[in-house]
Amino acid sequence: MRYIDDDLTGKTILITGGAGFIGSNLAFYFQAKHPDAKVVLLDSFRSGETLSNGNLKSFGHFKNLIGFSGEVISGDINDKTLLASLQADYRFDYIFHEAAISDTTALEQDLMIQTNVNAFKDLLDLAVAHGANMVYASSGATYGAASSPQTVGREAPQNVYGFSKLMMDNIARDYMTRGQISIVGLRYFNVYGPREFFKNKTASMVVQFGHQVLSKKVPKLFEGSDAILRDFIYIEDIIQANIKAMRPKASGVYNVGTGKARSFQAIVDILQKELEIDLGCEYIPNPYVGSYQFHTEADIEPTKSGLDYAPRFELEDGIKAYVPEIRRLFEEEL
Ligand SMILES: NC(=O)c1ccc[n+]([C@@H]2O[C@H](COP(=O)([O-])OP(=O)(O)OC[C@H]3O[C@@H](n4cnc5c(N)ncnc54)[C@H](O)[C@@H]3O)[C@@H](O)[C@H]2O)c1
Repeated sequence: MRYIDDDLTGKTILITGGAGFIGSNLAFYFQAKHPDAKVVLLDSFRSGETLSNGNLKSFGHFKNLIGFSGEVISGDINDKTLLASLQADYRFDYIFHEAAISDTTALEQDLMIQTNVNAFKDLLDLAVAHGANMVYASSGATYGAASSPQTVGREAPQNVYGFSKLMMDNIARDYMTRGQISIVGLRYFNVYGPREFFKNKTASMVVQFGHQVLSKKVPKLFEGSDAILRDFIYIEDIIQANIKAMRPKASGVYNVGTGKARSFQAIVDILQKELEIDLGCEYIPNPYVGSYQFHTEADIEPTKSGLDYAPRFELEDGIKAYVPEIRRLFEEEL
């Protein structure tokens, strides 16, 4: 589905984090719906370097981009020389900033602040220099322990990742007051869908449970999983929000979720129904009691009015749309 009617002929779009989950989906959206736009992707790609928690430092993977016909640059957003050359060599009309340490369990506070916060300011300066509209990824993790429904202005981050995204929003607001360019921060809630597989253990529980079920392993849920609720949002609705954020009614920070809280139990039940495999579930004690988000539910009323955003995928619809890709990954990648 095409979300705006604008003619993007002659426009140049930069997508940072373009080899990652959301960035690569954006790249293919433009390729399919606005083939006249020039799309440039910047990503550090994976190198094998890991963080202290054992996860990769960056998850970008070439397989997310098979079939992409635009330009790809391997580089680090922390590299000021690279950003200066981008400023000199291109003229961007839109910047979608998705690059980040996206791992919510990462412990390296220095790297997190440098990459997520400080490099973002440099990219905002690039956007201002080019007169480009900026759309960037914030996160529902800014809310941490805040009660539902999570509303912009009531944040309580519980980890350095959530803190870094909140600091991005603070910087963005400062730039918004100058009024030079349009800036939209999108606080994604729990995203799932095609091209997340290469996030490994940090991919959504939808694909992880899907593969457990396909390999006939009984899905393990935390005790009380019917009461652990999250706002799970399908990638297609994330793309919708990004595209509509290209020309918002007003710059600002907006939640992107469905506005509905669903359980991990529901994910497993819908998956088993769609995959036509019934293994039941096994329940294990939750080791995270006290430090776990038990109920997330985005307040999306301002997003509906400010961006004309209207989520189209309930959890049932998103999982149904995703299941053929979950099967393909199981057969070809696992
Ligand atoms: N997926 C979700 O559920 C979710 C939820 C809230 C917010 N977000 C945010 O959305 C954005 C995209 O997330 P995603 O799920 O696609 O994650 P992802 O890890 O798949 O994508 C991030 C990309 O950024 C790249 N990257 C990392 N460090 C870089 C650097 N220094 N220079 C250049 N590139 C770098 C990675 O290689 C990766 O391809 C991130 O900012 C993330 O924090 C995601």
